[in-house]
Amino acid sequence: MKIKQYEKLYKELDSVLSAQENWVSNYSNFCAVLMSEFNHHWIGFYLANNDKEELYLGPFQGPLACTRIAFGKGVCGTSFEKRKTLIVPDVHQFPGHIACSSLSNSEIVIPFSDSAGRQGVLDIDSVNFDEFNEEDQRGLERLLSLL
Ligand code: SME
Repeated sequence: MKIKQYEKLYKELDSVLSAQENWVSNYSNFCAVLMSEFNHHWIGFYLANNDKEELYLGPFQGPLACTRIAFGKGVCGTSFEKRKTLIVPDVHQFPGHIACSSLSNSEIVIPFSDSAGRQGVLDIDSVNFDEFNEEDQRGLERLLSLL
């Protein structure tokens, strides 16, 4: 059960994140706090560039990743375009999945907008198949509401 972990993270992030800090600093600590709890393969943000209709890589933890994803492409671009959380139990079965790392087997992508109106997605990759479920969705959507 991850519900207790998400509850702990909510309290931690609620005290760590601050409107007085630069968004890059807040987003970076958001990834760090999640990574230290779950130790997933990759955790990071993609932010919307509406002029170019693409997402660009933001603060993250994990191996290097692709820097741009067109709206509607891959899991991230699809989630962003539909404004819908996507849980992918096996990324190899997702048409158009963008493989930044060959070690990634499942993924969750959650679209969000922050208090300054910045829009994007939080992307989390796991080496395990079927790592993410509705509990993660609820937990992560609640954490993102702190941004
Ligand atoms: N797999 C994502 C690309 C981003 S990396 O996983 C960090 C996708 O299909 O959109």
